[in-house]
Amino acid sequence: LLFNLRHKRIPMKPTNLVVCQHAHTPYSFTYAGVVERVVSAFRSVSGDEGVSVGSAVREQHGRDESVHRCQPPDVVVFPRSVEEVSALAKICHHHQLPMIPFGTGTGLEGGVGALKGGVCFSLRKMDQVLDLHLEDFDVTVEPGVTRKGLNSYLRDTGLWFPVDPGADASLCGMAATSASGTNAVRYGTMRVNVLNLEVVLADGTVLHTAGKGRRPRKTSAGYNLTNLFVGSEGTLGIITKATLRLFGIPESMVSAVCSFPSVQSAVDSTVQILQAGVPIARIEFLDDVMINACNRFNNLSYAVTPTLFLEFHGSSKGMEEQVSITEEITRDNGGSDFAWAEDEETRGRLWKARHDAWYAALALRPGCKAYSTDVCVPISRLPQIIVETKEDLIRNNITGPIAGHVGDGNFHCLIVLDPSDPDEVQRVHSFTERLARRALAMDGTCTGEHGIGLGKRALLREEVGPLAIEVMQGLKATLDPKNLMNPGKVL
Ligand SMILES: *[C@@H]1O[C@H](CO)[C@@H](O)[C@H](O)[C@H]1NC(C)=O
Ligand SMILES: *[C@@H]1O[C@H](CO)[C@@H](O)[C@H](O)[C@H]1NC(C)=O
Ligand SMILES: *[C@@H]1O[C@H](CO)[C@@H](O)[C@H](O)[C@H]1NC(C)=O
Repeated sequence: LLFNLRHKRIPMKPTNLVVCQHAHTPYSFTYAGVVERVVSAFRSVSGDEGVSVGSAVREQHGRDESVHRCQPPDVVVFPRSVEEVSALAKICHHHQLPMIPFGTGTGLEGGVGALKGGVCFSLRKMDQVLDLHLEDFDVTVEPGVTRKGLNSYLRDTGLWFPVDPGADASLCGMAATSASGTNAVRYGTMRVNVLNLEVVLADGTVLHTAGKGRRPRKTSAGYNLTNLFVGSEGTLGIITKATLRLFGIPESMVSAVCSFPSVQSAVDSTVQILQAGVPIARIEFLDDVMINACNRFNNLSYAVTPTLFLEFHGSSKGMEEQVSITEEITRDNGGSDFAWAEDEETRGRLWKARHDAWYAALALRPGCKAYSTDVCVPISRLPQIIVETKEDLIRNNITGPIAGHVGDGNFHCLIVLDPSDPDEVQRVHSFTERLARRALAMDGTCTGEHGIGLGKRALLREEVGPLAIEVMQGLKATLDPKNLMNPGKVL
């Protein structure tokens, strides 16, 4: 966001933050002639309707849901198969054109902007669910299949894919960014739920990271290339298939809400619930500012204090025990009585405050933009970082309600800012850097689930150190020696 604006010394006019570049941005100098020549080659692979140079389409593919400036590609292609992706990549490779994979555009760190122009690979036409193996609990999907799309496909099978970042993102995009969300405390992030990937490399060759068609639940065969591509954010190749783990839909789900006198007591409860081995599926933290926003937005009346939203998944029989252990723990920590919900409708109503948090935050300052930060620390450090962050927000007069996946030590400030106020933009920029550094100082990471993208490259270097960066650059140079894959991101 704000980071790259500063590095590039673009004057902070309001339009730079949130509005697309002019629709008729000339092709960048280097590619001017090349692009026109390759378009007809692209058309011969993907047909006329599979290639677009229209400004509206290009702009739509030049930005995600972050406040990073829109950077449209020169061309957008819509391949229908891995063979087409490979053929198009070969053309790009030959002409040294940058390639940027695009799923649903729901990222939050500016990962899809075409910094150096080039070709956006929009993968939404590849939307088939393939090779569902019910008894093995796995499935293979093409990159256009979204999380909700897969779950509705699975509806009658008794299985589901639980990783839920909120947005209805594409599953291959979620793999590319190592996404997670509210269910990760029970089911893990994308990192543990991808078994195999099919990837088109920069030169158009097709790699199967775990070997073609392989899907064992474990292996100790060689380096883990699948893991290398999870979180690579399009900088190593274009993911064209993902084989994913599935889970049985739990027999029973129960939701609860509980408020606490302090951040410390909410986090202490979380740690003790996990220590007790309660297989909690979601445990979400909302701070007093967030609760207040939710109350106002949804006309609710939750106590305006740190609050946990919980969800239990299990068999009907085991559920009672899970819930009573949890209730005992929260009561010992000064928590309120639980608000309960078992049937789907009441659970939905109970969780509504959490689900609408983004819009509730926006409603605090109508007409402003929201920007979600993302850091993650060892869970024992959560109370300290949240308390210090709240003090920082107040000191700098920044509106930033906090919502966190507290079971993972991961939390977000949903910052609501006026992008036309340069002073505020600068204050938010400094705040987010301080927040990330605070997380690093507490042995944490500058991003739990949004990725590095454009704005956090300097922080990545601080996080892993120069040697690890060098190793990453070496891997990148091996797989993409011409630096064509989503250049300017991550490293
Ligand atoms: C390799 O990485 C993938 C993706 O992160 C993960 O799901 C898998 O369990 C790993 N395999 C092994 C043997 O560690
Ligand atoms: C908000 O809730 C109160 C009672 O809880 C009710 O009297 C009032 O009409 C509600 N307002 C709106 C706008 O729904
Ligand atoms: C804090 O920011 C708001 C706008 O978000 C502004 O109206 C208010 O005057 C500011 N307060 C101080 C003390 O700067």
